[in-house]
Amino acid sequence: MLRVSFAITAAVLSLCSLASQQEFSGPEQARRGYALFFDSPKAACGSCHALSGRGTPAGPDLKVIARVPPRGLATAILSTRTQYVQEVKLKSGQSFPAMPVKQDDQTAEYYDLARTPPELRKLARSDIESVRDNENWKHPPASADLTSQELADLIAYIKYAVYKYTGTVKPEDVE
Ligand code: HEC
Repeated sequence: MLRVSFAITAAVLSLCSLASQQEFSGPEQARRGYALFFDSPKAACGSCHALSGRGTPAGPDLKVIARVPPRGLATAILSTRTQYVQEVKLKSGQSFPAMPVKQDDQTAEYYDLARTPPELRKLARSDIESVRDNENWKHPPASADLTSQELADLIAYIKYAVYKYTGTVKPEDVE
């Protein structure tokens, strides 16, 4: 019985991923960028960013930056400097690179970027020793291995997903 329900779950899951791949209807370049964004281990953007109703919203919402010209967007993707990530240290001695989500008087929520994919953690503020600027976490340096064409495809997808941009982004636009 258990085995049957596992098999059914697996079948449903593979149907779901099939459906989400087929659901994408946009220009060819954006479709390639979408596949890279979510389904390629090389880019893995979707493990930390959410777009098109998929992914993990640990990184910043890409809605604002999507309108920046391609070269600026490429620079942001390739940059390993951080602006938002913090270093949270707990009274237990544990510390982790953290993207702040929300806070109230009692609790603070962060995405823990030390986990893959990043994990949402809800902490009691009384358990937190300190919150500092991040000094160690870097935006995935693996992005540097993307070819100019792959980078252009990713940017075409981000622009299409956010504001239905249907133009072509050329490799030389991101170099
Ligand atoms: C391990 C998680 C992770 C992965 C993988 C990742 N990102 Fe990010 N991304 C982040 C975080 C966290 C930030 C915010 C860094 C900061 O400035 O503090 C960020 C920032 C960005 C920014 C700048 C956003 C802004 O408004 O400043 C862009 C653009 C971006 N990522 C795109 C991508 C793309 C495209 C990929 C795939 C090639 C990718 N990211 C892969 C976590 C990730």
